[in-house]
Amino acid sequence: MKHLLKLLDMTGEEIIEVLNLADQLKYETKHGIEHHHLKGKCLGMIFAKSSTRTRVSFEVGINQLGGYAVVLNSQGSQIGRGEPVQDTARVLSRYVDGIMIRTFEQAEVEALAAHGSVPVINGLTDFCHPCQVLADLMTVREFKGALEGLKLCFIGDGNNMMNSLIVGGLKVGMSVSVACPEGYRPPQEILDFAKDYDCFQLTDSPMEAAKDADVVITDVWTSMGQEEERAKREAAFTGYCVDSALMAQAKPDAMVQHCLPAHRGEEISEEVFEANAHYIFEEAENRLHAQKAVMVKVMG
Ligand code: CP
Ligand code: NVA
Repeated sequence: MKHLLKLLDMTGEEIIEVLNLADQLKYETKHGIEHHHLKGKCLGMIFAKSSTRTRVSFEVGINQLGGYAVVLNSQGSQIGRGEPVQDTARVLSRYVDGIMIRTFEQAEVEALAAHGSVPVINGLTDFCHPCQVLADLMTVREFKGALEGLKLCFIGDGNNMMNSLIVGGLKVGMSVSVACPEGYRPPQEILDFAKDYDCFQLTDSPMEAAKDADVVITDVWTSMGQEEERAKREAAFTGYCVDSALMAQAKPDAMVQHCLPAHRGEEISEEVFEANAHYIFEEAENRLHAQKAVMVKVMG
């Protein structure tokens, strides 16, 4: 693995290899077993959007691997003043051993990888959120014991989370159903990928998508950068709340995940959120372990 730009670039086997390493690193972390696979290495982190989990889990993760991080916020660096990404890539490549970037355009992440000479990890773009979905798959496997053959359902916006879950879920052998309103469907590139899979379903009916699901996942209706569309989106997503009526359609032992931050009473009810808090916060913890595995794979 050279970079982690999007899950579309990975095979199902490569995804499973990352999850296996993540499980091992989680075990070693819990048992105080040192794993300095990236001793002395520096991870540069670029943030053009806000973050709590990604910011902290990457910095703690690189430290646990024996390395360290340097954080660059777009505002306050020359990136925010428009320095071309191809120049930023060539400069940072001379200082750091890997770059994690959270930004808007997927093309910027791809350009960073194309023009730089160090591994690039996508920490979220408008198009995808691969690190989050690796952590999600890790969490499902931890609680369910397997991934293949399980039904994963996503309710909500055809956004970065839905895109990565469709790709990641299908690649590891899950069946994937997604429910989103007309006008909020995943982009054509994702639908083109999914059309080769019989076990993919796209509907505008949340109840239909959730039927017999093993895992139900949702995310905010208004993502970072879309704040001006909030009112329009709230109207469009009426009826897309993961609540107990929706969960009654899923398998009785179904688990719920949410990448966080969550808006209780919008995409998920307070009741369903709290009933699944043990899954949701393990999922948040697993960002640390999954990303450590990614860093070892690309920077090791
Ligand atoms: N889930 C997630 O990526 O969280 P942050 O935005 O806090 O990094
Ligand atoms: N879809 C959300 C995910 C945040 C982690 C966003 O892009 O804002």
